[in-house]
Amino acid sequence: MLVMIMEAMQMTVKSKSNTPKNTFLTANMTLTPNLSYGQPNAGNMLIKGENLTVLECLLPKYAGLIRCVYIDPPYNNQEKYTHYLDSGSHETWLQDVSLRIKLLVELLSTGGSIWISIDDNEVHYLKVAVDKIMGRNNFITTIIWQQRTTRENRNVFSNNHEYLLVYAKNAKDFKAARNLLPLTPKVRSRYRNPDNDPRGPWQSVSLNAQAGHGVPSQFYDVVAPNGRRHSPPKGRCWIYNQERLQEEIRKNNVWFGSDGNGVPRLKRFLSNTQCGLTPDTLWIGEDVGTNSMAKKHMLKLFPGQPLFDTPKPEQLIHRILKISTNPGDLVLDAYLGSGTTSAVAHKMGRCYIGIEDGEHAITHCADRMKQVIDGESGGISNTVGWVGGGGYDFYWLNRK
Ligand SMILES: C[S@@+](CC[C@H](N)C(=O)[O-])C[C@H]1O[C@@H](n2cnc3c(N)ncnc32)[C@H](O)[C@@H]1O
Repeated sequence: MLVMIMEAMQMTVKSKSNTPKNTFLTANMTLTPNLSYGQPNAGNMLIKGENLTVLECLLPKYAGLIRCVYIDPPYNNQEKYTHYLDSGSHETWLQDVSLRIKLLVELLSTGGSIWISIDDNEVHYLKVAVDKIMGRNNFITTIIWQQRTTRENRNVFSNNHEYLLVYAKNAKDFKAARNLLPLTPKVRSRYRNPDNDPRGPWQSVSLNAQAGHGVPSQFYDVVAPNGRRHSPPKGRCWIYNQERLQEEIRKNNVWFGSDGNGVPRLKRFLSNTQCGLTPDTLWIGEDVGTNSMAKKHMLKLFPGQPLFDTPKPEQLIHRILKISTNPGDLVLDAYLGSGTTSAVAHKMGRCYIGIEDGEHAITHCADRMKQVIDGESGGISNTVGWVGGGGYDFYWLNRK
């Protein structure tokens, strides 16, 4: 059952540095200065507590303000991890996660999105449940994440991927708001300049299309500058009529190969391409990290401590936040685990709310964020040029 909604109120509290701050508090949520770190009241919160109650507490103040929700709930795989249990009935699990998603949706802003990590065991049931909550028209996509690159030979199939279900508060708003990804060095390297074109690097793309879609004016022989004639390849036609194609040749926009005898192709200039890549749905470990890479990062962050079993790599969350948010936007993770989302959001200059019920809210999340603020160099630090700074406030739900 839903717990009673507690009233959020603005209260003036004293920070560690005794500066009066107008900070979010609720009757049941206690600011805990000795677990907070760095610049107080910077808009970043770690909250130790059961997430259903915490979300109800957040609603009065944060409804409609969260740009990106990322959640990585227990997957209901009947495991007993060192830091939390993941065993229950399918029905209870689905109901519990659905209840939380219903509240999370209310927190989302215009253009906001929710990203849910899940594996093969429950993904299809969860998809149907979330469709009912958010509306099928707000389902954006399912991303496949290659979470391991080695082969598991003990099973019938080596299961090497998990999923991210992506939903928008409103699909149309999200489409307008989402960011492109930066061109990768691999894509950029496809643009060259073999003819020293003053307009800069270009790549050649096909100038022909399926014949079935063509009109008569698209079937003709192209005459190259060296006089050679080119018919459209079998079953194809030119994408332009003859007049337009001659115009493109005159403007030096058509490439006939380095010897001038090749099939004509169109030059597409790097300077004219949209300044980024449309995100695709297949995310490989080489680009966004794997579980084992995340665990190696854990060992560096928490030497001598029992290993947190299910961390996500910072690179994975980095890509999610790159697509879905801009600097200063508010990100929320209601199953914070070892603090990956807060660490990445912090390094990327996003504000964040991270909720975690277990003791690792202190031993991992708070400790990790202190390291981040002190300039921790693992994960995405190099990629984003992270050198440290900022701060977070630690809140404790129902602390006696
Ligand atoms: C799969 S882990 C998240 C791992 C995280 N993404 C990371 O990179 O470290 C799930 C986490 O959810 C926490 N959790 C489970 N149920 C919760 C609840 N009702 N309220 C708050 N936290 C919860 C567990 O303690 C666990 O740390």
